[in-house]
Amino acid sequence: MRKPFIAGNWKMNNTRAAARELVAALKPLVADVKDVEIAVAPTFTCLQDVSELIKGSNIELSAQNISYAASGAYTGEISADMLKDVGCTHAIIGHSERRQYFGETDEGVAKRVRAALDNGIIPIVCVGESLAERESGKTFDVVLRQIVNGLSSVKNDEAARVVVAYEPVWAIGTGKTATPDQAQEVHAAIRAKLAEIFGADNAEAMRIQYGGSVKASNAKELLGQKDIDGALVGGASLKAADFAEIIKAAR
Ligand code: 13P
Repeated sequence: MRKPFIAGNWKMNNTRAAARELVAALKPLVADVKDVEIAVAPTFTCLQDVSELIKGSNIELSAQNISYAASGAYTGEISADMLKDVGCTHAIIGHSERRQYFGETDEGVAKRVRAALDNGIIPIVCVGESLAERESGKTFDVVLRQIVNGLSSVKNDEAARVVVAYEPVWAIGTGKTATPDQAQEVHAAIRAKLAEIFGADNAEAMRIQYGGSVKASNAKELLGQKDIDGALVGGASLKAADFAEIIKAAR
C-alpha cells in the first residue's frame, strides 16, 4: 500500500512573514492527519522560518530545487548539505518551470537526483508534456523519455524512495486539469516504465503524484485513480484551508 503524498509547491511566492502565517494556519488544520504524508516547498529564503514552525508536526519540508554539486564555485546554487542543514527532507527536481525558463535538462535532472539521494534527500522528480506535444500525440514519448533519462542515476535499491510528479504543462496554473482518465492513463504508463527499469516490486512502491490545477473540488476524483498516489499542488497550496481540504481528500 502506497501512502498518499500531498506536497505544496509555493513557487516564487511569500515573504518570510507570509510564509510563517501560511504554515501556522495550516498546522492545526492537518494536525490529526496520519494517513497522508504532507510537505510544503517554500522558497529558499523561507526554509529556515518554516522549518522552525513545523518542528514536531506532521508537515515535512521540501526545497524547490537542489544543486548537483556538493560545494564551491556555483553562484546562485544551494547544495544538498545546506538543504539538510535547514531541515529539508525533500527536493523538487526538474519542475517544468525550471525546464522551460531556466534551461533545465533531463541530464541535469539526473545529476540533481543523484545529489539528493547521496545526501538522504527524497527527490520529487517532475515530468510532463506541453500542449503542443499532447496535441501532436507525443505525450508518452516525452514523459517516458523524461522518466528514463531523469532517473538514469537511480539504483534499483533506491527507487522506492523516489517520488515522481506527473504535471502536464498545459494544466499548470491554467485552471485546466487533466481528467482523471487522462491522468491515470499517463500514470499507468509511467508505472509500467518504472517496472521495466527498477522491477515490478519497486515500481509498486514508488509514489506518482499528479500536478496541474489540483483543487479541493477535483482532488478526490483524481486521487481516486489507481496509479495516482498524491498531488503536487501549486496555487491551491497558498491558502491553508484549500490545501488542507486537498490533503483530506487523499485520505
Ligand atoms: P498549479 O496547481 O498552480 O496548477 O501548479 C501545479 C504545479 O506546478 C505544482 O508544482
